[in-house]
Amino acid sequence: MGRLDNKVALITGGASGIGAAASELFAKEGAKVLIADRDLDKALDLAKSIDSQGYVASAVSVDVSDESSVAKMVAVAKESYGSLNVLFTCAGVFPGDDGGVLDTPLSTWDFVQSINLKGLWLSCRAAIPVMLEAGGGSIVNVASFVSFMGAATAQVAYTASKGGVLALSREMAVEYARKNIRVNAICPGPIETPLLKELLSDPERRNRRLVHIPIGRFGKSEEIAKAALFLASDDASFVTGASLLVDGGITAAYVTPE
Ligand SMILES: NC(=O)c1ccc[n+]([C@@H]2O[C@H](COP(=O)([O-])OP(=O)(O)OC[C@H]3O[C@@H](n4cnc5c(N)ncnc54)[C@H](O)[C@@H]3O)[C@@H](O)[C@H]2O)c1
Repeated sequence: MGRLDNKVALITGGASGIGAAASELFAKEGAKVLIADRDLDKALDLAKSIDSQGYVASAVSVDVSDESSVAKMVAVAKESYGSLNVLFTCAGVFPGDDGGVLDTPLSTWDFVQSINLKGLWLSCRAAIPVMLEAGGGSIVNVASFVSFMGAATAQVAYTASKGGVLALSREMAVEYARKNIRVNAICPGPIETPLLKELLSDPERRNRRLVHIPIGRFGKSEEIAKAALFLASDDASFVTGASLLVDGGITAAYVTPE
C-alpha cells in the first residue's frame, strides 16, 4: 500500500531539486505523477527513469508565469490521468542579482514575483476546479524559512515572494476548507539544490548561512519531499492552512551551538 495510491499528482518545477525528489517519492508511493517544468528535456528524462522502475510518471512543458501555459498543464493532467488530487508547487527562481532594496533591478523583482508568486497562484487557480470535480484535493505550496525571518544575505525579491506564498496559502486554505481542498505551505531551510548553487559555491556566503543552522548542515531535497508527502497524503486529513518548517532548526535558534 502506497500513501498516494489512486491519486494523481501534478508537480511544478518537478524536473530538478525538491520537485524531482518529490516526483520520484510520490510515484513510489502510488501516485500517477505529471512532472511539469520549463525544462522539458529534464522532465522527460526523469519521467522515463521513474517509468523504468515500474512506477507511473509523464512530463509536460510549462511556464508557470504564463496563464495559458498553466491551463494547458492542468488539461494535460486531466487528459492523461482523468483527474487531479495533489498539486505540489515547486517551480521557483532565485536570480544572482536579487539583493538589497536599493540594488535589486526592477526587472529582477518582476521576474521573481511572476514565477514564485504569480506562477504559484496561477497553478492553484487552474488546479482547484479540477480538484473540486474530483471531490477534493491537497495543495502543497513551497514557501521558505524566509517567509518568517529576514535572510542573512539580502534577497528582497525572493523573500517578498515567499512571504506572499505563505499568506496566499492561508487564504486559499480558509476559502476551500469546507470544499475538501486542503492547502498547506512547506517552508524549507537552505537545501542543496541547483537553486542555491551560486550562493553555496561561495565559501563566505555558504558559511554565513551554515552558522545559523543548529543541525549543522544544509538539507537534502529528499527531506523536503518526505514532509511534502505527509501534507499531500490523507495522513494530513485535518491539516490545512499550516506552515510546516523543515529548516534544520534555523527559525528556532537565536544562537547556534558550537
Ligand atoms: N533550495 C533551497 O534552499 C530552497 C529553500 C526554500 C525554498 N525553496 C523553494 O523550493 C522550490 C524548488 O526549488 P529547488 O531548490 O528545488 O530549485 P531547482 O532550481 O532545483 O528547481 C526549480 C525548478 O523550477 C523550474 N522552473 C523555474 N522557473 C519555471 C517556470 N517559469 N515555469 C516552470 N518551471 C520553472 C526549473 O526549471 C527547475 O526545474 C522553489 O520554489 C524554491 O524557491 C528552495
